[in-house]
Amino acid sequence: MDSRPFRSVLYIPGSKERALEKARGLAADAIIFDLEDAVAVEEKAKARTLLAETLASTDYGPRAKLVRVNGMDTKWGRADLDTLAAARPEALLLPKVNAPGDVEAVAKILDARPETADTSIWAMMETPDGVLNAGAIARAPRMAGFVMGTNDLAKELGCRFRADRLPMQYALQTCLMAARAAGIVAVDGVYNAFKDDAGLRAECEQGRDLGFDGKTLIHPAQLEIANTVFAPDDAAIALARRQIEAFDAATARGEGVAVVDGKIVENLHIVTARQVLSRAEAIEQLQKAMG
Ligand code: COA
Ligand code: MG
Repeated sequence: MDSRPFRSVLYIPGSKERALEKARGLAADAIIFDLEDAVAVEEKAKARTLLAETLASTDYGPRAKLVRVNGMDTKWGRADLDTLAAARPEALLLPKVNAPGDVEAVAKILDARPETADTSIWAMMETPDGVLNAGAIARAPRMAGFVMGTNDLAKELGCRFRADRLPMQYALQTCLMAARAAGIVAVDGVYNAFKDDAGLRAECEQGRDLGFDGKTLIHPAQLEIANTVFAPDDAAIALARRQIEAFDAATARGEGVAVVDGKIVENLHIVTARQVLSRAEAIEQLQKAMG
């Protein structure tokens, strides 16, 4: 898997002109331009046209750009796909994916159009069927990432909101495991209380500790916390360097194991240490490129 940053993945309603404009200057690693749940039924058609025009005329820089279309089983989905295809989207995010067939059907449509030759597909993981089929969905054609839809999942499960997200753990970890098995990106769900910084930070830390690449966000005020929590911090970078140094020294002595801070360091830890350094490097590059 490459180390492109997905620490902060901001939803922007495709109907909100002001937010679409504002996004160019926001420090989001990735943007989800949304036509689905963030857009009211009466606004669907207008948002579709506005978003297609905006994407064709606006430079959103080197950050990843995903378009969330309506489901193909709704009356807007196919029109979203046809209109947005012309804007050569980098990635389409499909809502409520239940099975690999949902992805295959869209991949076939993309295959038939030259503009979408390189468009990847991401899946919202937010239904019980989707979670149970996660392994197969992650390996479907063009799949490049999972986004956890924790609000829809909570609705489907009938579970309660808890700060420790105990009811969500099965779904979060199953989808994460499937994403890792297939080598695709995995981004955690949103934190609804966008004025509660402490709660957001705690949930970001849990997502990071589980192994997610980043968090989906609903408001610009959430960017800084996600960007900080999901980046390797100075201590992690320093430790990675010391581990690599100690392991190189051990190897030079003809030994296969080093000890750093009283803990063994083997070849597999060096793989992780190198990933930490390359993620830190990729974040620095993206920040430079976004100015
Ligand atoms: N992306 C980009 N800009 C955003 C934004 C977003 N998701 N949410 C808010 N902003 C902008 C506003 O346009 C406003 O800009 P301005 O002050 O320069 O005019 C600024 O940030 C402050 O917004 P604020 O007044 O605090 O928020 P709000 O009350 O207008 O909106 C929400 C709050 C939650 C309705 C709004 O943030 C939103 O629509 N978020 C996305 C929801 C979504 O996509 N849901 C689907 C996935 S769960
Ligand atoms: Mg949803």
